[in-house]
Amino acid sequence: MNAAITTLNMGMLGCGVVGSNVARLLQEDSGDFAARSGATLKLSKVAVKNLNAKRDYVPSEILTADANSVVTDPNIQIVIEVMGGIEPARELILTAIKNGKSIITANKALLAMHGAELFDAADKNGVDLYYEAAVGGAIPILRPMRESIVGDHVHRVMGIVNGTTNYILTKMDEEGSAFADVLKEAQALGFAEADPTADIEGHDAAAKAAILAGLAFHTRVSSSDVYCEGISKLTARDVAVARDMNHVIKLLAIAELTADNRVSVRVHPTLVSRQHPLASVRNAFNAVFVEAESAGELMFYGRGAGGAPTASAVLGDLIAVARNKARGVGCCADQK
Ligand code: HSE
Repeated sequence: MNAAITTLNMGMLGCGVVGSNVARLLQEDSGDFAARSGATLKLSKVAVKNLNAKRDYVPSEILTADANSVVTDPNIQIVIEVMGGIEPARELILTAIKNGKSIITANKALLAMHGAELFDAADKNGVDLYYEAAVGGAIPILRPMRESIVGDHVHRVMGIVNGTTNYILTKMDEEGSAFADVLKEAQALGFAEADPTADIEGHDAAAKAAILAGLAFHTRVSSSDVYCEGISKLTARDVAVARDMNHVIKLLAIAELTADNRVSVRVHPTLVSRQHPLASVRNAFNAVFVEAESAGELMFYGRGAGGAPTASAVLGDLIAVARNKARGVGCCADQK
């Protein structure tokens, strides 16, 4: 590939499980990234809440508690947002965009709620806004939807897009356990959050469904458009009855065109035949099954969460943005 032709300075908002893996991979593989992107990628400022926490791959002199100083720094060209939540992430990203910085974010809740505002701002300012890590962690699903099958007509997308609930449902199916017992076990193992509401009530999957639906049907869908029902009311008996019928219960995010050509987007526990490819997606794995007119059926499978898998998707976006910059091209990765 090209030799490095320039240096791109990057700022990062947040340095938790995903951010620290991004920093680690940037340090370990910097030579490869320069060769692949045509630019030397330099992490030059990282905004964190706690300046005193020990971080192996982030020198203390690039840490700051002032996130605004990252998004307004004239030397920074790319901002990676891995802090999560709606505010201040939304305000910080908008400020970064207005200051001409390209954005990489893993923030599905923010994109599903305020995507239109963010994409419009990126378009207006001629910067990139990439978000592969927001859905399905390491699974390349958004770029294939946006690029590889954009010439086709998608009829339906069905995804297992939440690892926590898929882990719980797998244990309920394979071990006959009760929902509450498996949830406790998942929390002890670190799969489920201390407050698992967004996972078990389907809100996390609904945000991802909104993003997938927007890309599949070339429109804008927000999380408030998505019908959402989680798995907290499922009983061991429901799962046993499904098993007797040779089915498995999965929490599916479904986006499809209705007979009158409208887009229906919903998340709810769904009976899936054991013969269907999605039935074999076990534990915390994710998968997205796409039905398109010419391509037929496609399935994308992999690790939907975790520091290193999610960082892999962030780095893919980073190299894509860096290539655009090194070649002097820019494109807002709008949902449409
Ligand atoms: N809590 C999410 C999950 C993390 O369980 O899949 C990834 O978005």
